[in-house]
Amino acid sequence: KPTEKITASEKVNELSADRENSAGQLMTTNTGVKVNDDQNSLKAGERGGTLMEDFIFREKMTHFDHERIPERVVHARGSAAHGVFKLYKPLSEFTRAAFLNDTSIETPVFVRFSTVAGSRGSTDLPRDVRGFAVKFYTQEGNFDLVGNNMPVFFIQDAIKFPDLIHAVKPEPHNEIPQAASAHDTFWDFISLMPESTHMILWLMSDRAIPRSLRMMEGFGVHTFRLVNDAGKACFVKFHWKPLLGVHSVAWDEAQKISGKDPDFHRRDLWEAIESGNFPEWEFGVQIVKEEDEMSFDFDLLDPTKLIPEELVPVIPIGKMTLNRNPDNFFAETEQVAFHVGHVVPGIDFTNDPLLQGRLFSYTDTQLIRLGGPNFQEIPINRPVVPVHNNQRDGFMRQTINQGKTSYHPNSIGGGCPFQAKWAEQGFASYAERIDANKVRARSKSFFDHFSQATLFYNSQSEAEQEHIVNAFSFELGKVEIVAIRQRMLGIISQVDQALAEKVAFNLGLEVPKKPEQPMNHSIPADGNPKDFQPVPG
Ligand code: HEM
Repeated sequence: KPTEKITASEKVNELSADRENSAGQLMTTNTGVKVNDDQNSLKAGERGGTLMEDFIFREKMTHFDHERIPERVVHARGSAAHGVFKLYKPLSEFTRAAFLNDTSIETPVFVRFSTVAGSRGSTDLPRDVRGFAVKFYTQEGNFDLVGNNMPVFFIQDAIKFPDLIHAVKPEPHNEIPQAASAHDTFWDFISLMPESTHMILWLMSDRAIPRSLRMMEGFGVHTFRLVNDAGKACFVKFHWKPLLGVHSVAWDEAQKISGKDPDFHRRDLWEAIESGNFPEWEFGVQIVKEEDEMSFDFDLLDPTKLIPEELVPVIPIGKMTLNRNPDNFFAETEQVAFHVGHVVPGIDFTNDPLLQGRLFSYTDTQLIRLGGPNFQEIPINRPVVPVHNNQRDGFMRQTINQGKTSYHPNSIGGGCPFQAKWAEQGFASYAERIDANKVRARSKSFFDHFSQATLFYNSQSEAEQEHIVNAFSFELGKVEIVAIRQRMLGIISQVDQALAEKVAFNLGLEVPKKPEQPMNHSIPADGNPKDFQPVPG
């Protein structure tokens, strides 16, 4: 555990303090007592019952009984690797984050890729979004970029996330289907949620069945904020671009691979790194000045929209190389705790309502998944800088805090740390001006659900468009309730009429003449926030 700042390569050494290799050692209990028989429990005679007294048996069995922890409620299936991030050019004009200012710094990273819907043991190749979570161990604390391989999301408000996930996970009465979106509840929800249309087009495209984790893009999705040393802010979208390019498999290949090798992506990543074939991504930013916030025909705070690269180019600012496999899957890949709320000075949030809700969800879930408030002390989660605060105690506390006091302010000293000033890189939240009514509503600038979906469809080659037709036809073909298929055809027709007609033909249905209008919730015209009526958007 670091008592002073440590460098990139030292993070690897730092983890080694917790590594254990028993090869050639004498076996002991957890209290360090040498064991002389690990294969026979203590019995009352050779044919007798096992004795309660057998502390060696009891300890071994108790530990085994408690080996499993809850899997992640989403993104349960994942694979991870260690690596390093190097900056090409300083971004000091926009941010005071030290790791984005100094090109001589090598920042260690730990990256976990995942599927979203399936359980921990599910196949690597379902049609699904892929998580792309990067933990930067910076010299100013951990920065987590918890992104996906698609640049937009299904919903605009975090309050809908539990519904989305309940709809996509296996159906509750029979736990079918595993790791697949092709079923009634998913498409029922999607057909009632027109804001998901853009994301659904990505999900039906080849992007949802990557050839390799090394060949995927990554996106922070939300608009974040950068803040420079003078306290001036701008908006930013984060991007990862794989140097191997973006590649996918065909759906038929994906299904065969799932049957033959459900670990296909995990094995590919592991073997590439073991053979020195290190995967690399360029890190890029799209920067929007504060004064340009309202200059787009979509809202920067709407996570179902991207900023077209034709409007704001992606500037490559650095490179990430994954160069070391984890030593132990559970200790590292399973116990790592990513959180969009892990930011460093110079990086801040916006009011994207999805981002705001995520800021609550991650610590909340990790408190139960990782067994209490001390999970930041687990080696893979520890920053490379020392931690000093007045937080104390709780299950599995590792730190032995010294001194008489654990409160602030205090006049006794006794081990109490000081607050850091701005000049000492203390984190100060961006002082965004807010003057508004407290309402349950969303802005009308979030109401256009189809333009970018059409833009995406039109950006696809003929063959890729054909794959989208086939994906919709396959997925909706698994939906038993015909009304859901029909409602979906109505939605697809608002993206592209010809696409809807091709899917309808494959399903043996007609495209509805008058599709249902999307329902949106906005502040009523009279401004009375008591009674929100859904209005056609
Ligand atoms: C994992 C919640 C949206 C990317 C998780 C986990 C939760 C969660 C509870 C499990 C965390 C854990 O057990 O450690 C939410 C909520 C969302 C949301 C409430 C929306 C309101 C998103 C979005 C993205 C995303 C938009 C991508 C930009 C991820 C990734 C992981 C994850 C990559 C896996 C992290 C890992 O590898 O450990 N999310 N999520 N999530 N989420 Fe989200």
